[in-house]
Amino acid sequence: MSLTRLNIDSFRNILSAKLTLSEGLNLIYGENGSGKTSVLEAIFFLGMGRSFRSHLSQRVINNEQDNLTLFAQLNTQERTTKVGLRRARNGDIDVKINGDNVKRLSTLAETLPIQVITPESFSLLFEGPKSRRQFIDWGAFHSDPHFHQAWAKTRRILKQRNQLLRNQSSYSNILFWDKELVRYAEVVTEIRNQYVDSLNGLLKGIITEFLPQVDLKVSFTRGWDSKTEYLQHLQNQYPRDLASGFTSGGPHKADLRLRVGNLPAQDALSRGQLKLLVCALRIAQGKLLKQQLNKNSIYLVDDLPSELDAKHRQLLLKQLTETGAQIFVTAIDPAAIVDSLSLPPERMFHVQQGKITVIE
Ligand SMILES: Nc1ncnc2c1ncn2[C@@H]1O[C@H](COP(=O)(O)OP(=O)(O)OP(=O)(O)O)[C@@H](O)[C@H]1O
Ligand SMILES: [Mg+2]
Repeated sequence: MSLTRLNIDSFRNILSAKLTLSEGLNLIYGENGSGKTSVLEAIFFLGMGRSFRSHLSQRVINNEQDNLTLFAQLNTQERTTKVGLRRARNGDIDVKINGDNVKRLSTLAETLPIQVITPESFSLLFEGPKSRRQFIDWGAFHSDPHFHQAWAKTRRILKQRNQLLRNQSSYSNILFWDKELVRYAEVVTEIRNQYVDSLNGLLKGIITEFLPQVDLKVSFTRGWDSKTEYLQHLQNQYPRDLASGFTSGGPHKADLRLRVGNLPAQDALSRGQLKLLVCALRIAQGKLLKQQLNKNSIYLVDDLPSELDAKHRQLLLKQLTETGAQIFVTAIDPAAIVDSLSLPPERMFHVQQGKITVIE
C-alpha cells in the first residue's frame, strides 16, 4: 500500500500543494522553517486525524485560514482508495473514504498504518511508559481486529471504576465492574503479549545489523504483578485504590522493558544508538505487519541524518528500503541522504517557504 497522490491545503505554512508521490523513497529537503516536517505532519494528520507535534489540532490550520483540507489517493494491489479530510478551526472534522462519510477516525488509521520517527518521538520512548504502551498498541491495533474495542472498553470501565472509588463505593458494588474489566483486560493483555513475542523474533536480526555489540532484551510487563490473577489483584488493591481514588494496577500500566545487559536501554546507549534502537523497533513493526497481514506501512522519518554518522545513515536507509514500504524522509541537506544510497531517491521535493517543487 502506498500514497500516490497528496494534496495539502492550508496546513501550517503550506497553502497549496499537489504532489505525485513515489511508492518507494521520497526525499523532502529544504532550509529550517521551510515546511518539511509539515509535509510529514500532513500525511500523519490524514491517517490519524491528529498531529504528532501538537495536541491542539487547530494549530496546524494555516494562520490565515479557517479550514484545512487534505486529500490522498492510496493504492494497493487490489484497489485505489480516496481519503479526504477537512478540519475547521471550530473543531468540526469531516472524513471521507471514497466519497462516503466516515464516523470513526480509527477507520482511517486502519487504512493507513503510519510509522513516525522524529527526533522528539525517539526520546519520548525512553521518558515514560505511555509512549512505549502506544508503541505496543500500534502493533496490537493493526495485528488484531479485536484489540481496538477491547482496549476502548477497558478504558471506559476503568474510568467508571475510578469514579466509584472516589465515591467511596463498597467492594461489592465495584465487583460487578471488576468482572467486566477483567474480561476485556485479559483480551488486551493477551494480544499485547503475543504481539511483543512476535516482534522480538524479527527485532533480533535488525539489531544485529544496527547495533551488533548490543545485548538487547525486550520484554512485556502487563501492568500488575505477574503472579496474581487480575480479579484477585483488584480485590487485594481495593483498600489502597479507595484511598487514592485510582485503580493502581492494570493494562493501563502495561510497559515494554528495553534492557541492555543489566541496564535500562537509555542508561546503556548513546543518543545515536538510541535513535537506531527506535528505528529498529519501528522497522520490526513494519516487517511484522507485512508478514502477518501483507500490509505495508508508511514511514515518516523526520530529519533522518541527525545524530547518525554516514555508516549508520546508510544502514538505516538500507533497512528501511528493504521493508518495501513507502518512505518519506526529510533532511536539510539532500546530499546527507543521496550520498547514503546506492540508487538515487525515487522522488525529491524541495520545500521553500511552504512551496513544494519536485526535482526532476
Ligand atoms: N498554523 C500555521 N500557519 C502558518 N505557518 C505556520 C503554522 N504553524 C507553523 N507555521 C510555520 O511553518 C513553518 C514550517 O515549519 P516546519 O516545522 O514544517 O519547518 P521545517 O522545514 O521542518 O524546519 P526544520 O528544518 O527547522 O525542522 C515554520 O516557519 C512555522 O513557523
Ligand atoms: Mg522540521
